[in-house]
Amino acid sequence: MCGIVGYKGKREAYPIIVDSLKILEYRGYDSWGVAISGNLSTSVIKEIGMIGDADSLGDASKINRGTMGIGHTRWATHGTVTIENSHPHLSSDGKIAVVHNGIIENYQALRKNLKKKGYVFKSETDSEVIPYLIEDFLKNKKGISFEDAFRKTLSLLEGTYAIVAIHDGFDTMICARKDSPIVIGVGVDAGEYIIASDVPAFIEHTKNVVFLENREMAVFNGDMKIICSVTGKIITKKSQVIDWDIEQAKKGEFKYYMLKEISEQKETINKAIHQDDKVIQDIADAINESYGTFFIASGSSYHAALSASYTFSRIAKKHINVVDSSEFPNYEHFLTPQTLMITISQSGETADVLDAVKVAKKKGVKILSIVNVMGSSLMRNSDHSLLMNAGPEICVLSTKSYTSQLSILTLLAYASVGKLDEGKALLRCVANHVGELTDPKTILSTVEVASYLKDKEHLYIIGRGQSYPTALEAALKIKEVSYIHAEGFAGGTLKHGPIALIEKGTPCIVFAPNDETKKEILSNAMEIKSRGAHIIGVSDKDNEIFDDFIKVPDVGHASPICDIIPIQVLSYYLAIFRGCNPDRPRNLAKSVTVK
Ligand code: AGP
Repeated sequence: MCGIVGYKGKREAYPIIVDSLKILEYRGYDSWGVAISGNLSTSVIKEIGMIGDADSLGDASKINRGTMGIGHTRWATHGTVTIENSHPHLSSDGKIAVVHNGIIENYQALRKNLKKKGYVFKSETDSEVIPYLIEDFLKNKKGISFEDAFRKTLSLLEGTYAIVAIHDGFDTMICARKDSPIVIGVGVDAGEYIIASDVPAFIEHTKNVVFLENREMAVFNGDMKIICSVTGKIITKKSQVIDWDIEQAKKGEFKYYMLKEISEQKETINKAIHQDDKVIQDIADAINESYGTFFIASGSSYHAALSASYTFSRIAKKHINVVDSSEFPNYEHFLTPQTLMITISQSGETADVLDAVKVAKKKGVKILSIVNVMGSSLMRNSDHSLLMNAGPEICVLSTKSYTSQLSILTLLAYASVGKLDEGKALLRCVANHVGELTDPKTILSTVEVASYLKDKEHLYIIGRGQSYPTALEAALKIKEVSYIHAEGFAGGTLKHGPIALIEKGTPCIVFAPNDETKKEILSNAMEIKSRGAHIIGVSDKDNEIFDDFIKVPDVGHASPICDIIPIQVLSYYLAIFRGCNPDRPRNLAKSVTVK
């Protein structure tokens, strides 16, 4: 979804904003724009396409060299991909520029009212009402400040927003949020502030951050003032120090973040399990004592939650309700104050997860979140949080965050039966195996399989038991980065329909770990092989049924962590061989902040 940046300080704003927008590219976008305040008027650059390809990037002569500005990468929600619809949007007098992430749900009514007052809209977007509303308050309320006009505008907006606005004449930048991410970087130099959707955008400038809450706004004019957007009262907030470093947010010697983040997993799994034992035990006890535990998540995080539910069943004989966050409204009737909700989200900004939390809190449900981004909306709306400590995950695909989530959830399952130390020992062993699985020497057989699969149109993946969620995650990885139609099935469902898809040469990945499912999944593999399928076995041992074999270690209950690694590598090389960008797949965004 969109990325927003704002800068006010002593340095030239344009290059800082453009560099920050480029770091936010992973959030997904199809157009971008920058507005810089100047002595005479605000100048604006807007482009369709990628920032790096823009010819105007070099032509900074088109834009003011001022020290206050805003920028935006737009992932279209309202209105097509056009220059007019890209941000920043300006007031009719050109003095106010605004960037916005989120959805203004009542924008048609606001737009209609503004049109009646003579405002002429240049775009189809919901966001364009914002600068005109601010301008209207400034025009019609004598002596009103930019800050008050901004605050009154917020009171008219329904929906979600992360907004940054600048006003040329007031030499002031203002930002505010409601259910859409925004973080303030407090510069090392006095009076320097960088606002962004996400920390990596400014981490090379500062690690001191202030997280805005809903109904808070920050006003920058020399220094920073934080006020309640409802009452206008001053709020005192301390900055926090983010323990990420700039190298983690850069590619280093890798061409793409995806392979870098895959290769970090030995380290990130060890960091994920490096938790306070008492906290882990308390959460495990809370799961045991709850009257129903829900795991709520989306996408890969949902697959991690589903996988963990099998682990809790196998280790703790404990039933966990796993629900995709977008489907959660259908389950709210089952919630009681004794229910425990565990939300799992790398970004901590997934709109459906945040909505599920809102519903659950109204029912008195205790909320625990497992997140990677410190200060994220989910973390701040939960009763307790566990940080995954995976460092920034820039690639749109979840790789290291998926195995970090699995590691923490596996630890909780062991802790829930009083075997925390056993779980830690197993996961430390798994981390070592993952280090071997991501070693360039080990992945050659996987690269060969990618070369074989690269021109295929359809690909199926089967698994049973705890390998079924792994099959779903494998399918998601492959489809979202290579655009091959990949589908995951529980092995036992094949004969109920999907086996009709099998024809000569159909490739099928089979997860066959050394557990109670091995005999049946191999017979499923034989059934599809006898109908012409090409079998790619992912197992601890080769088998005559396999046409290709990818070896993974036998690590018992933690097998889903190792089993997905070669598929992450396979997905990466499929993308490369098919000329896709592994970090920024088409149509996708790193954080789905709109429903
Ligand atoms: C997975 O590779 C995708 N990036 C996507 O499915 C992602 O897992 C999902 O959007 C959930 O994101 P979250 O963990 O930040 O909530």
